Amino acid sequence: MELIFIGYPGSGKGTQAAILSEKYDIPKISTGDILREAVSRRTPLGLEAKKYMDKGELVPDEVVIGLIEDRLQQEDAQKGFILDGFPRTIAQAQELDRLLHKFKRSISAVISLEVSKKRIIDRLTKRRVCVQCGRVYNLIYDPPPEDGRCGVCGGDLIQRSDDREETVRHRMEVYEEQTRPLKEYYGAQGKLILIDGSLSIEKVRDEIQRKLNEIMNSDDSSSQ
Ligand code: AP5
Repeated sequence: MELIFIGYPGSGKGTQAAILSEKYDIPKISTGDILREAVSRRTPLGLEAKKYMDKGELVPDEVVIGLIEDRLQQEDAQKGFILDGFPRTIAQAQELDRLLHKFKRSISAVISLEVSKKRIIDRLTKRRVCVQCGRVYNLIYDPPPEDGRCGVCGGDLIQRSDDREETVRHRMEVYEEQTRPLKEYYGAQGKLILIDGSLSIEKVRDEIQRKLNEIMNSDDSSSQ
């Protein structure tokens, strides 16, 4: 299965991609995570990307496309993958189509998580992330253990530098201008699935699962 998640920052892409990654045993590939890793290692790529990320701007297309091209060729991505945060522009989507065509693969579905702006601010300003294993929490909706450390590995929990309210507002504008057009792009390919992302994490998970089952069942019956 080859899936893409799109949606406002904080719509729950990473949370749901992690759930599906475990269920289907395929990697969650997050350009945001790859870039943050490069920032924390202070590589040349990380230092360049940080300038954009801190302002809530998109990193240039050629940088992220290069990262994805390498990542999709790794062993663990051969049986499927879940893209979280890529593509984010029409140019990235076209390049992804080109790459997948070259690898004789294609996207199974594009899941767009639909959440109101007001809810996004609330979710992101209360998000906390484990510095060690990357597990994502929310102080209200998915709280960490009482000792305030990661429940998976005991690591410190931090607030992402781009989760300040002002930067979150700008990231939403960037989404509207540059990423939202992807809904039309994938809608025209018949691959877009709209999911109400404002429900609880469990309800969103179940709704995604229901839609994916429909797709898998229709694929099975058409191949018989
Ligand atoms: P990236 O890391 O991809 O950030 P984002 O898309 O802005 O998305 P987030 O990670 O903020 O949110 P999410 O939708 O994954 O929500 P989450 O599940 O964590 O990108 C960061 C930056 O990197 C970009 O700004 C850009 O600079 C650069 N970048 C990355 N990819 C790029 C690309 N392709 N091109 C160019 N630049 C790129 O959930 C959020 C919170 O809500 C959590 O606390 C969670 O616990 C909670 N939550 C989740 N679901 C629910 C629910 N259903 N109910 C209640 N709470 C929930």
